[in-house]
Amino acid sequence: MDIKAVQTSYARWAPIYDKTFGAVTNAGRRRAVGYINDRVGKVLEVGVGTGLSLPHYKPDLHVTGIDFSDEMLGKAREKVAEGQLDQVKELRQMDARALDFPDNHFDMIAAMHVLSVVPDPERVMAEIARVCKPGGKVVITNHFVRTQGVMAFIERVSAPFANTLGWHSDFALETVLQEDGLSLETQKPLPPLGMMTFLVLKKSQST
Ligand SMILES: C[S@@+](CC[C@H](N)C(=O)[O-])C[C@H]1O[C@@H](n2cnc3c(N)ncnc32)[C@H](O)[C@@H]1O
Repeated sequence: MDIKAVQTSYARWAPIYDKTFGAVTNAGRRRAVGYINDRVGKVLEVGVGTGLSLPHYKPDLHVTGIDFSDEMLGKAREKVAEGQLDQVKELRQMDARALDFPDNHFDMIAAMHVLSVVPDPERVMAEIARVCKPGGKVVITNHFVRTQGVMAFIERVSAPFANTLGWHSDFALETVLQEDGLSLETQKPLPPLGMMTFLVLKKSQST
């Protein structure tokens, strides 16, 4: 998708997201936030969207969320205000390809259902690696393309409609794993039916 398509597509999704795509992807969000809640420190959520995860972070975390879409962020801001979510320190409009944060800044970074949406996911992974502290964790939930079966066929034929759908149905796991300095620690299928995958990557201590 190009960035203009992200803008128009998610302006359309924002009013209905929580009751549609957002509702069927809750398992991944809960798993990712559960993992983060077992730890302490500064969290960055890349592509925070309507903020469905935000009420679930424990109160003593320091959470920053960024998203390109003002309409999606507007919904997230409503949740923060309504729920008085003090753990959410900042929600900013930002392009994940150029994160406006210093190197080695966050203890944990979450990217949920976003890497198959962003233009240039390799660059986004490089930015995530840059702003993550050495030894920090990157928690990802996403759908990755299958190589065989009926679903693999459906994913391939829907791939040209990425700009309309709002995501790439044929997104490959290797795109996420190619970043030097981030190593895979955990890979688990998520309900329903293993459609989504939960990943934890660790930034090496030496960078
Ligand atoms: C499918 S939604 C996922 C939202 C949220 N993470 C969730 O789990 O519900 C994808 C989000 O990625 C955001 N996005 C896409 N490209 C982006 C970019 N380059 N920078 C920041 N956010 C981006 C979209 O605006 C949208 O809110």
